Amino acid sequence: MPDELSPAEIIAESAGPKAASSATAEANGDAEVYSPRLAGSKDMIVTEHVDKWFGDFQALDDVSLRIKEHEIVVILGPSGSGKSTYIRCLNRLEEHDAGRIVIDGIELNEDVRALAAIREEVGMVFQQFNLFPHLSVLSNITLGPQKVRHMPKLEAEALAMQLLERVGIPEQADKFPSQLSGGQQQRVAIARALAMQPKIMLFDEPTSALDPEMIKEVLDVMQELAESGMTMIVVTHEMGFAREVADRLVFFDEGALVEQGTPEHFFTNPREERTKLFLSQIL
Ligand SMILES: Nc1ncnc2c1ncn2[C@@H]1O[C@H](COP(=O)(O)OP(=O)(O)OP(=O)(O)O)[C@@H](O)[C@H]1O
Ligand SMILES: [Mg+2]
Repeated sequence: MPDELSPAEIIAESAGPKAASSATAEANGDAEVYSPRLAGSKDMIVTEHVDKWFGDFQALDDVSLRIKEHEIVVILGPSGSGKSTYIRCLNRLEEHDAGRIVIDGIELNEDVRALAAIREEVGMVFQQFNLFPHLSVLSNITLGPQKVRHMPKLEAEALAMQLLERVGIPEQADKFPSQLSGGQQQRVAIARALAMQPKIMLFDEPTSALDPEMIKEVLDVMQELAESGMTMIVVTHEMGFAREVADRLVFFDEGALVEQGTPEHFFTNPREERTKLFLSQIL
């Protein structure tokens, strides 16, 4: 499925300045808490009965999922089970056909201002980094803050350098993406998303295109981000990361949310046959 985005979409999707959101009451609900550290956290992402169709193919089937602020959710499932479609619906790279999606109290609907507000809160990192090849590493990161947030150039560059430090590659600032390893490129992509100061980060198989020796450096950055309090949804087959970092694992199959639980539940006592079969194939 297409992960290719126009430059405008890439900026938009990882966009923006932080407007305070008041409408959280509706989204505050009774989500089950999967980790003691999340007790008292508000609901950050609420999806209720979400359906998505591509023509007459149903890619998402009645998906309901509530995610707490600061929660780390790993989504698992076979190819074609709707994992990417689900997270792409959360910032409307795909439009859902039925059900509700509420991000930090803002309902995702036809209202373009709601969409803009949500895209200010949600950063996304893809399997295929999607960096701008003609821009330096530094410019890849400063572009969004300058264009979308109208941040002065020097300030944007200082922010970019700070983020490059955070992802461990400040020395790569002046190179072009093609001069970097895959792991380095993906860390630039993470820094670029963080430059927009999102409240939520969505990762769609961020290490699947990487050589094995580069996977850890990206997972380490993601782990640091998780520990910093970011709310994250991560589609990944990296079971070590899932076990160590996730508060909750969610298993999709054929567009449906089949089972969810703590890592311990999944690794010791999965309930559904489909979950057991999937885990037996990847563990
Ligand atoms: N734009 C599209 N047009 C038509 N069908 C699509 C489109 N995007 C996704 N699909 C279909 O929807 C289903 C779910 O796709 P999705 O990409 O969400 O799966 P996935 O779980 O992310 O799989 P993978 O692990 O291979 O990335 C697949 O059958 C896919 O072919
Ligand atoms: Mg996918």
